[in-house]
Amino acid sequence: MIERGAFITLEGIEGAGKSTCMALVSRRLREAGRAPLETREPGGTPLGEALRELLLGHRHDGMATDTELLLMFAARAEHLQQKILPALEGGRWVLCDRFTDATYAYQGGGRGIEHERIGVLEQWVQRGLKPDLTLLLDLPPEVGLERAGRRSAPDRFEKEQRPFFERVRQAYLDLAAAEPGRFRVIDAARPLEEVERQVSGAVREFVAAWN
Ligand code: TMP
Repeated sequence: MIERGAFITLEGIEGAGKSTCMALVSRRLREAGRAPLETREPGGTPLGEALRELLLGHRHDGMATDTELLLMFAARAEHLQQKILPALEGGRWVLCDRFTDATYAYQGGGRGIEHERIGVLEQWVQRGLKPDLTLLLDLPPEVGLERAGRRSAPDRFEKEQRPFFERVRQAYLDLAAAEPGRFRVIDAARPLEEVERQVSGAVREFVAAWN
């Protein structure tokens, strides 16, 4: 029987340096002989990317919070069935830029949907599947927003104000505290070299424990 691949996710508020870290984690995994399938949420499939456009664009600015939540999970159901599960079951490692922790953080912490209601959908869509390792790039929203603000025009989430991101950050930290075995919290406010050292260390430790 083929051993299932490991499922690794990356999380953090806007401007935390997720893209740089995705590239670094991918490189470290390739060096370890575990070249991952790289993907992202919302998105990762043609339907998921179409839903991402609806979720991040401004055509539906007044979208109800429950609609937002359900579309996130619709994209995730598609992603799991079409891409993530076949890869994991085939023994491939999967590296995903955001997953369900983002739903607890943004739709839960940020928008105020109860944790339990999100839990029902998580169980329904994932049937118990969870990431094996989650790297949380943590930093104060004022630092992240400053960095993110220098990039492109803000999407439907980026246009939220600081209190929203304070709640998102706190929700992420609460998730990490509740599952210390799965999460590695990285201090993303530190200089890039140090952040990279922390990320590389976490990946190395995880790969060694998996082998
Ligand atoms: P990003 O992955 O390019 O940073 O942007 C995706 C945005 O979608 C980001 O603002 C977080 C948000 N998001 C949610 O609100 N809930 C989710 O479940 C996911 C996966 C992302």
